[in-house]
Amino acid sequence: MCGIVGVVGKNDATTIILNGLKRLEYRGYDSAGIYVAGDESHLVKAIGPIKNLEEKLDTTITGTMGIGHTRWATHGKPTVANAHPHTSQNGELVLVHNGVIENYDELRQTYLATDHFYGQTDTEIAVHLIAHFKNTGLTTKAAFKKALAVIDGSYAFALVDTKDSETIYVAKNKSPLLIGLGEGFNVLCSDALAMLDQTNRFVELTDGEMVTLTADNVTIENAAGEIIKRDYYVAELDASDIEKGTYPYYMLKEIDEQPVVMRKIVQKYQNDDGSVAIDQNLLTSLKNSDRIYIVACGTSSHAGWAAKKFFETLTQIPVEIHLSSEFGYNMPLLSEKPFFIYLSQSGETADSRQVLVKTNELAYPSLTITNVAGSTLSREATYTLLLHAGPEIAVASTKAYTAQIAVMAVLAKALGVEKGISAALQFDLFHELSLVASAMETMINEKESLAELTADYLTDTRNAFYIGRGNDYYVSMEAALKLKEISYLQAEGFAAGELKHGTIALIEEGTPVIGIITDAVTGPHTRGNLQEVTSRGARTLVIATEDLAKADDQILLPTVHPLLSSLLAVVPTQLIAYFATLQRGYDVDKPRNLAKSVTVE
Ligand code: M6R
Repeated sequence: MCGIVGVVGKNDATTIILNGLKRLEYRGYDSAGIYVAGDESHLVKAIGPIKNLEEKLDTTITGTMGIGHTRWATHGKPTVANAHPHTSQNGELVLVHNGVIENYDELRQTYLATDHFYGQTDTEIAVHLIAHFKNTGLTTKAAFKKALAVIDGSYAFALVDTKDSETIYVAKNKSPLLIGLGEGFNVLCSDALAMLDQTNRFVELTDGEMVTLTADNVTIENAAGEIIKRDYYVAELDASDIEKGTYPYYMLKEIDEQPVVMRKIVQKYQNDDGSVAIDQNLLTSLKNSDRIYIVACGTSSHAGWAAKKFFETLTQIPVEIHLSSEFGYNMPLLSEKPFFIYLSQSGETADSRQVLVKTNELAYPSLTITNVAGSTLSREATYTLLLHAGPEIAVASTKAYTAQIAVMAVLAKALGVEKGISAALQFDLFHELSLVASAMETMINEKESLAELTADYLTDTRNAFYIGRGNDYYVSMEAALKLKEISYLQAEGFAAGELKHGTIALIEEGTPVIGIITDAVTGPHTRGNLQEVTSRGARTLVIATEDLAKADDQILLPTVHPLLSSLLAVVPTQLIAYFATLQRGYDVDKPRNLAKSVTVE
């Protein structure tokens, strides 16, 4: 979603900001803009990719301070007028914003009834509001503070007064923002990835804080005006982690990285004696709970479903999976001792965070499983487990899904052993995960045949269905999401047995139906359902484990431990989505309308 970068104290501010914006492209955006203060100030905005912005920029104009923004439209269409930065009516103040100002209409009516606005964004109202307070005789900083006090909603703001080319004012509430520390310069960014080529020392901000940033000083204040001292952390990322290398798309690179990620998880969570390395306090807290609530969105919620069965088998604790966007406002009747697990690749998803805020208010223990150390959900939950999957840049999540399932398996094993559950004591998880890693490599090497099958089945269709039962149904939901979000085919994942209760009406001559079969008990039933759709004209394609396969099955999966079958079954479906998208000529990594990090509710 929207991305913010800024720098103060470096001569080539334009280049630094442009490079930073490019590194934030993966988050999803539809317009971009930049303001650089120098001898001649420069404010340029463009719709579409960053290269459109670059083409409009006079690169001879550079300066030592500036801010930049990628916008994912919420209020108002993606137009130049709605792109950030926005300026006050007299042009003196320049502002970029990530988030949503909920009371923007009320603010306009109360304070800005006579102002003229160029676009439809809530951000434009914010910068006019700051100018309004400044016009009452306040300094820029005091006016900013006063505006923050009346603004409701989520925001990461970076504000510049064009009369002062040495200061950037920053504020954060519910939207991600970091300060990066340099030698003789400082930066700000929505994600450390954006500024890794400048520094690896970052300071986290918490909600309600405001920062005054100059080349050699960072002053953090809370809402009460008290100065906050906070240490920096060193980002354990390398700029090369976010390069595509020889891959045409990040998604393909990230699919291919999955075996390595499985091995990394084994390495990170295994003690020298082979036992599982998990914080004892976390295990005790989980052991004391009577029900686990997994709260997540999109692919992460599908990872929760994939984890449900093994978690219940290994720990004997019931597990419920909930969509964050539903749970927060329709909270079910909870058990007596609930424990919350937030699954989130980015650790910034606003829908999940609003639930975490509520469960924190209720003082329930929680764990965030995330790929991003120091992310908001990680900071605010009681415990964190990291995915160790390396940055995931493609909007379509692949390696984070399998890493989430694997880390949940690690947790289930540790908890099951702690509780003395025999299924857990007998389960050699790390060995099984190593087998999964090798089996993933086998599937990944089948790319060519998967590309051919995809061309054969998905070229001339506007829809497709995945079906399965149990874990195979859960993988079907994820497989369908992957296919629809990047290839724009209308794809749905169904419980195979449910077809005859309605969905089968959609089957027409040639409709592709892909069956997933990894379970000996439910496999024959899914095959029966495939027969039913074949009789009605569907073209069926079967993904089955070798031990359950029939002669005509097209995609064979090496057999792995049945509790972990989702980790493998999903791989061909990721590749099918990838090839379907390539064959349709769409951008695999940046699907329309979607953002990587969804920081608004
Ligand atoms: O960062 P999160 O895991 O919290 O993100 C949740 C969803 O937005 C995300 O999984 C989304 O569904 C992906 N585009 C799926 O590929």
